[in-house]
Order: sequence, then structure tokens, then C-alpha cells
Amino acid sequence: MRFPFSREINMRTQIVAGNWKMNNDLAQTQALISDLKKQVQTSNAEVMIAPAFTNLYSAFEALRHTNIEVVAQNMHFAESGAYTGEVSAKMLQSIGIKTVILGHSERRAYFGETDELLAKKVDAALANNMRIIFCFGEELADRKSGNHESVVESQIKKALFHLEYSAFNNIILAYEPVWAIGTGETASPEQAQEMHAFIRKTLADKYGEEVANSVSILYGGSVKPANAKEIFSNPDVDGGLIGGAALNAEDFFAIVNAFNRI
Ligand code: 13P
Repeated sequence: MRFPFSREINMRTQIVAGNWKMNNDLAQTQALISDLKKQVQTSNAEVMIAPAFTNLYSAFEALRHTNIEVVAQNMHFAESGAYTGEVSAKMLQSIGIKTVILGHSERRAYFGETDELLAKKVDAALANNMRIIFCFGEELADRKSGNHESVVESQIKKALFHLEYSAFNNIILAYEPVWAIGTGETASPEQAQEMHAFIRKTLADKYGEEVANSVSILYGGSVKPANAKEIFSNPDVDGGLIGGAALNAEDFFAIVNAFNRI
């Protein structure tokens, strides 16, 4: 069932964010940004890109007077100190970055990030007035065994449910089923809507309808120009977190512009 006016009523922000992951050196970053700036930006959606740490400052400067926000892919929870190889919220803020992606499944799988660690990172980002794109999602085995909802519920509860209501002004959720990331396999629009509605209900049960309806919930996992419109037209899908297709300016803006035709 479709609810075409739900976005207007809830006033949730529509967001399309490109997670560049560990792709693009400085020259490639500058070239892709220059391509992005050539695209017409008439979308209803907020647009973000997340380049690698080494290119954040250059990207931020290059996009300073545009409506594309530059965001970070990760940060450490500590303010400063003996954490070799890490970057703090204050460091990000010092170069103008206001939003950070936390909890991406690649951070969880390859760098051992647990729900408990993520709760600390969430606290640190919020303490520094940063906005968070908080990622979570089940693995294929969870989906096959029918545990996908309980896995997602547990990820959300463990990292976020210690927070006050007001924290959700600065939280964007991103449901990224692990089996759909970089695989070319996307959750069907029905699977995405069903999970997004479940996530919103989980939030509503704890924080009430008003908070639940104000939080943007993005879908991530093999979103492409060809499937974006169908995924975004679901009432509880407020945008996308885009990997591979964000590395090409035309594809990325075709996805961003999918909102204009809904
Ligand atoms: P793909 O769009 O390449 O599947 O990646 C999704 C993702 O992980 C975004 O964070």
C-alpha cells in the first residue's frame, strides 16, 4: 500500500548520501567532485558525499558554496590521545565536517566494531554536536533464518536506546542488509518497506510516534539509477546510502533525482 502524502505530513528529510569507501585518491576525488558540480542540483533531497579521510578537507573546500555536504566515514570515540591511526570528532569539526557515518557493516565485519563500541562513538559524536548516519543491517543467514528483524532491532537498541529523545534530531538511520551491499542484489521494494516500517515501529515503541516519524531512514545496498525510484517511493524509505553508484557523477545524480519524479 502506498501513502503518497506521508513525507509532507511527517516532514522527514529526504537524503541521498554517497559512501565512497576506500576509493579515490586526491586527484580522483577532485575530478569526481568537479563532475558532481556539473550536474543539475534541483533535487528535493539533501545530498552528501563521504570521501576518504585524506581527501575530506579538499572535498569540503571544493564544495563549500554548494548544497552537497561532505561527511566522514568513521571517527573514534575519544577526544584525543594515544589512538594511533584514529581521527576524532573535534578533528573532523575543525575542517568543517558536521556529519559522520557510524556502524557501517564493513566497519563491523572487518574492524571488529561492536554494538558497545558504536554506542560510545554515537555518544562522542552527539557530545560534539555532530549528526550521525547510523548504519545497521542483517546478514544473509539472518534473513534466511527469518531473524532479520530481531537482528536489526538488537543493533538499534544496543547502540541507540540509551539516548534521550532530543538526540534523534541528529540521527539518520541507514538500513543496509549486508547481503545487498556491493552484490548487485537489492532488497525488493517490499522487503525494504517492511523493514523500514519495522524500524520506525521499534523507534515509536520506545520514543513515541513523533520521534519515529521525524527520523529519516535510508536504504543502502546496490541502489542504482535503475532501481532508485522504486525503492524511494516506499513511504518509510527516506533516501539512500549509495556505494558503487556514488563513484560516478551521472549515476549518483540520477539516483538523487529519482526523488523529483516521485
Ligand atoms: P553498494 O551501493 O555498492 O551496494 O554499497 C552500499 C553501501 O555499503 C553504502 O554504504
